[in-house]
Amino acid sequence: MTTPLKIALIGAGAMGRQHAGYIARESAATLVASTDPFSSALADETGIEHFTDHREMLDQVRPDAVIIANPNDLHVTTAIDCLERGIPALLEKPVACSREEASQLIAAQHRYDVPILVGHHRRHNPVAERAKAIIDAGRLGRLATVTGMWQTCKPDDYFSMEWRRQPGAGVVLINLVHDLDLLRHFCGEISAVQAMTHNALRGFEVEDSAIVQLEFANGALGSLTGSDGVVSPWGWDQNVNEVPLYAKHLDQSCYFLAGSEGALSVPQLSLWRYGEARGWQHQLVCESHRFTEGSAQQRQLAHFIEVARGQAEPLVSVEDAAWTLAVIDAIQEAARTGQRQIPRSP
Ligand SMILES: NC(=O)c1ccc[n+]([C@@H]2O[C@H](COP(=O)([O-])OP(=O)(O)OC[C@H]3O[C@@H](n4cnc5c(N)ncnc54)[C@H](O)[C@@H]3O)[C@@H](O)[C@H]2O)c1
Repeated sequence: MTTPLKIALIGAGAMGRQHAGYIARESAATLVASTDPFSSALADETGIEHFTDHREMLDQVRPDAVIIANPNDLHVTTAIDCLERGIPALLEKPVACSREEASQLIAAQHRYDVPILVGHHRRHNPVAERAKAIIDAGRLGRLATVTGMWQTCKPDDYFSMEWRRQPGAGVVLINLVHDLDLLRHFCGEISAVQAMTHNALRGFEVEDSAIVQLEFANGALGSLTGSDGVVSPWGWDQNVNEVPLYAKHLDQSCYFLAGSEGALSVPQLSLWRYGEARGWQHQLVCESHRFTEGSAQQRQLAHFIEVARGQAEPLVSVEDAAWTLAVIDAIQEAARTGQRQIPRSP
C-alpha cells in the first residue's frame, strides 16, 4: 500500500479547519503540521505540530504537499515559498489579489515546475462534472445563450468585519468569482464583458448587486446576476448540496444554457430537446440526467493527492484561475466606466 501523502496546512481558520476535516476522512493523506500565527487551536485539538511561520514549518517538517488557506493577500508569496522548496500546493481561491500578482506566480511556476492546484472546488462537484460532459458531448448543439444567478441574503453580522464593507470584498469578487470560473469551465473562454453594479441595498462602499453580460469566445452570450442582499432561492449555494452553511432549495436552478439542439438547467440536469419535429409549436421532451452525489471538496482533495504525486495535471491551474481574475478585473472596469471590456491576459 502507498504511504499516505504528508500534508501541512498554512492558515488554520474557517477554511483551513474544513480542509483538515477532509484530510481526516482521506486514507491516502495525513495532516502532519499546521501554521497560523494567531491560533494553535487546530494543532492543540489534533496533536499535530504547530508553527507560527510557514517557512520554518516547510524547512523543518518537509511535507510532501501543503494546503494554503491563509488570507488572500498572502497567497502568492506563500505559494512561491512552497515552489522554491519543490512542494506542491493546493492554493485556496482567489489565486491572487491582482493580475500583476498572478503573473508573478505564473512566472515562478515556470521557473520551478512544481504543480499548484487552485481551490475552485465547484469544478470537482459531480453535478458540474456531469453538466460539462453533457455540454462537451454536443447535446446542446451550438451553445448560444447562458443565464446564471447567484442571489441570496447574507446576514447583517456578516458585514461586522470592516474589510467586507470595502471595495474588493463585494459580491463580484467574493461570490460571482465561483460562477465565472464554472461558466468558463462549461462554456469556454470569456472574450468580453459589460457590467453594472450598485450598493443601493446596504449602502456600503462595496457593491451588493451586479449584472454582468458575457461574450464567450465561441460566440455564445451570457448574463450573470448576483446580489447578496435579496430574498431569492436561486444560486449554486442554495441549489447544490455542497456547503452545509447555506439553507437549501434543491429543486431550483441557478444556470440555464441553451443551444441550437437543446437546453440544460443546472443543477437539475434537465435536458430539453425536440422529439420528431422542431419548432415552437412542438412539445419539448425532457431527459433527466443523474449523477452520483459526492463532496466537491473531498473530491478536490483526492485530485490534489494525484497532482502532488505527479499522477494528474491540476484541473484548475494557476493560469486558468488567473483568467477568472482577469475577467473580474474587466467586470470591475466595465462597471466603473460603463464601457465593454476585454479581459487582459494575466
Ligand atoms: N473555496 C471556497 O469556497 C472558500 C470559502 C471560504 C474561504 N476561502 C478562502 O480560504 C482562505 C481563508 O479564508 P477563511 O474564511 O478560512 O478565513 P479565516 O480568516 O477564517 O482564516 C484565515 C487564517 O489564516 C491565518 N493567518 C493569518 N496570517 C497568516 C500567516 N502569515 N500564515 C498562516 N496563517 C495566517 C489567520 O490567523 C486565520 O486563522 C481565503 O483565501 C478565502 O478566500 C475559500
